[in-house]
Amino acid sequence: MDIEKVNSMDFGEFVDVFGNVIERCPLIAAAVWSQRPFSDLEDLKKHFFAFIDALPQSDPTSIPGAGAGQPLYWDPETGQEGILRCHPDLAGSELRRGTLTAESQREQSAAGLTSLGADERLRLAELNAQYRARFGFPFVLAARFSDRAAVSRELARRLLCPSAQELRTALGEVKKIGSLRLADLLRADPAKP
Ligand code: GUN
Repeated sequence: MDIEKVNSMDFGEFVDVFGNVIERCPLIAAAVWSQRPFSDLEDLKKHFFAFIDALPQSDPTSIPGAGAGQPLYWDPETGQEGILRCHPDLAGSELRRGTLTAESQREQSAAGLTSLGADERLRLAELNAQYRARFGFPFVLAARFSDRAAVSRELARRLLCPSAQELRTALGEVKKIGSLRLADLLRADPAKP
């Protein structure tokens, strides 16, 4: 698919094609469509990432006027952490139930997460649960170029990172995943009649 084809898409087609560039966040594709025309893949990517960067973080101290004892007037479920929460756990219950998106299924499969032994699955489930309890969002890693040992290792390492740093790392991984998905889509052959 070339960039002219992308620029010619109506809203519905664009969201159908690019709606899962950011996992389960078609709203981002819907917003990016309004920014067309795009000059190339890099430009398209830039718009997806600018949307993410412009979202509020849920750290109350970053909001002017907010502080201890102030009523909550922002929704911590929205913003950048909300994007992370749209991701399923790696090797989690969705993989077992077969309810992953096609993209996530491919990425998890490429990392060998679809063929874990019982012990490895249990270890990853424990680490995923600890990570969620500590940070309040799931562990996200661009799994495609990883392998099962590296996923567990990285999860154990990031579990010990400070929260603000971990939010930045996780959003960086979302962008890596999005870059790879966009590159796949723009490389893809046009649909055969
Ligand atoms: N890395 C690549 N795809 C995914 C996904 O679907 N979920 C998580 N947590 N990480 C990923």
